[in-house]
Amino acid sequence: GDLKNFINALPKAELHLHLEGSLEPEMMMKLATRNNIKLPYQSVDEIKDAYNFSNLQDFLDIYYQGMNVLQMEQDFYDLTFAYLEKIAKEGVVHVEVFYDPQGHTSRGVAFSTVTNGILRALDDGQEKLGVSSELIMSFLRHLSEEEAFATLEEAKPWFDGRIIGVGLDSSEMGHPPSKFERVFNAARDLDLKLVAHAGEEGPAEYVREAIELLMIDRLDHGNRTIEDADLTQELAKSGIAFTVCPLSNLKLCGVTDMKEHPLRKMMAAGLKVTVNSDDPAYFGGYMTANFMSVTEALELSKDDIAVLCRNSIEGSFLTDEEKTRHL
Ligand code: ADE
Ligand code: ZN
Repeated sequence: GDLKNFINALPKAELHLHLEGSLEPEMMMKLATRNNIKLPYQSVDEIKDAYNFSNLQDFLDIYYQGMNVLQMEQDFYDLTFAYLEKIAKEGVVHVEVFYDPQGHTSRGVAFSTVTNGILRALDDGQEKLGVSSELIMSFLRHLSEEEAFATLEEAKPWFDGRIIGVGLDSSEMGHPPSKFERVFNAARDLDLKLVAHAGEEGPAEYVREAIELLMIDRLDHGNRTIEDADLTQELAKSGIAFTVCPLSNLKLCGVTDMKEHPLRKMMAAGLKVTVNSDDPAYFGGYMTANFMSVTEALELSKDDIAVLCRNSIEGSFLTDEEKTRHL
């Protein structure tokens, strides 16, 4: 309809997307066959039926299992290019995607296999689809500081502009940002951009740690920030971008109904909010679906939608000159 066309027509950036979370059931089946991997599912419908989560950990267990089908460089290429083809149709002009190298190296797939497959697809996405991109590698916070340091070391050949930043994801509760303060200091010394998931399930205090200890450039989720009025005011003033993921929050039961989603409150508090898809193959939709869902549930205006899209360009790691071209 009219609203969907309006959303699709606005230039926007996706700033919170885990490539492994864009693995659609159909591709999971195809890659399982291609790589001779036994899946615990017999059909696409059985896979979809398994996607019922009551919290983040429920999802992560299924997500880490799903990525087992990714084995060869071509698999990572196919995954990445399929994602880019989808979002190119939704008015996404730029993406800053995450991947979880430790989810692959821990099961014997080489860092270079994963990274080179992704980068080749990102290059083709620029050339063939006109979507610009950056790559951010995330540390799995349920693993140790030592393992994060080893991953940072292994990634060094790609810090010549191919991997532009580091993030922090996986099980939030019990793994506060402070656990990775020294790793993020080392990443900062390498001139990498810094982002972290915080305040998705964890308390506002974890957001404060991500800001003050990790000194992040952008905050992933951050929904629970508004439970702390002082912190909210500080972050409104600083202008740091929040990468909010509405359908993810609904599927992982951060909100019980989209009408309860804090996005509107966050915007009203002056936070620089963006809308993103997180793990679209698992949560029921890509960018446009996320925009549609919050727009309808929270009765957002077209002006609100335009602000959210503008925020995504402004909150990206593009240069000022590149941002101006998209605004
Ligand atoms: N890994 C993939 N998606 C995630 C999410 N929403 N939160 C934490 N870790 C993740
Ligand atoms: Zn995420």
